Amino acid sequence: MTQSITIPTPDDWHLHLRDGAMLEGVIADSARHFARAIIMPNLVPPVVRGDQAASYRDRILKALPVGMTFEPLMTLYLTETTDPDDVEAATKSGLVKALKLYPAGATTNSDSGVTDFVKVQPVLERMAEIGLPLCVHGEVTTADVDIFDREAVFIETVLDPLRKRVPGLRVVMEHVTTKDGVDYVRANEKDLAATLTTHHLIINRNHILVGGIKPHYYCLPVAKRELHRLALREAATSGDARFFLGTDSAPHPTDLKENACGCAGCYTSINTMSLLAHVFEEEDKLDNLEKFSSQNGPAFYGLPVNETTMTLVKGDAPVTFPSEVKTGAGPVTVFDPGFDVFWKVEEN
Ligand code: NCD
Ligand code: ZN
Repeated sequence: MTQSITIPTPDDWHLHLRDGAMLEGVIADSARHFARAIIMPNLVPPVVRGDQAASYRDRILKALPVGMTFEPLMTLYLTETTDPDDVEAATKSGLVKALKLYPAGATTNSDSGVTDFVKVQPVLERMAEIGLPLCVHGEVTTADVDIFDREAVFIETVLDPLRKRVPGLRVVMEHVTTKDGVDYVRANEKDLAATLTTHHLIINRNHILVGGIKPHYYCLPVAKRELHRLALREAATSGDARFFLGTDSAPHPTDLKENACGCAGCYTSINTMSLLAHVFEEEDKLDNLEKFSSQNGPAFYGLPVNETTMTLVKGDAPVTFPSEVKTGAGPVTVFDPGFDVFWKVEEN
């Protein structure tokens, strides 16, 4: 029996597109299935000012294949020298939709991130005033905190105090990977939401480490214990408006992942929607897929839900995805869920 589901075209509320040849190689995979995406600013050098975001946006649109539509929602990388007036101007012009907080050293290209939160207090206050959300990479980076505890410790020692110091600041906890993160969002009615990635709904830390190390399952924040994966699945499929999709699709050339010091990031733009349909069906929550991938995100960001639609069809034969995407910056390995998937996005 063929089963199908039609939802408003999804958006991706956390995406790495990179620049240059990599951008050209991956943009179509996002534009095919997503109308809009929040574009991460962790380029080298990072996108810190409004003028840099404007020219990055132009490069993204230029890289978009003819005939495809896609709206990049730009972000600025918060540094200790970010100018509140520049942020306000870039927001009021409609260009910038969020600022991104990376604790210094937390992940790929995060060296310019924040160490001293006192220095960013004025810009955070301005953001609260103008309603601009702060997207947060929620991990502490101090060497004495175990990598599997970094999210939970961040919530307690950095995020909660920060939210108390800046009342009214709207925060997105990005790529939440723990039950602690889910519980924290649930305990706060106002000004707080979280994105969840597709891969964190599928893998736990055993997938990375048991039976040989699997570099293509290594991303940051690193996948945690099974109990956390189950909490993430419950949150994503619950329909709760505070949780929405941010794939965190993060392309790296395969040789830089299959490496003695492999980079963090999973590439999922190309198969995310099929995988999500699979997960939501497993949880018996297919009806909530549109909330997670198409409705909750725009509601938080104060944007309209897309008027176009996407249809996913479940067939009898497994869908095949390429194992690698070729780009001018080298091949990128596609996230392999490790099971057959039968849901396919119907091409228009
Ligand atoms: C991201 C990247 O490669 O830019 N990597 C990742 O593992 N998610 C950075 C990030 O979002 O942490
Ligand atoms: Zn990311």
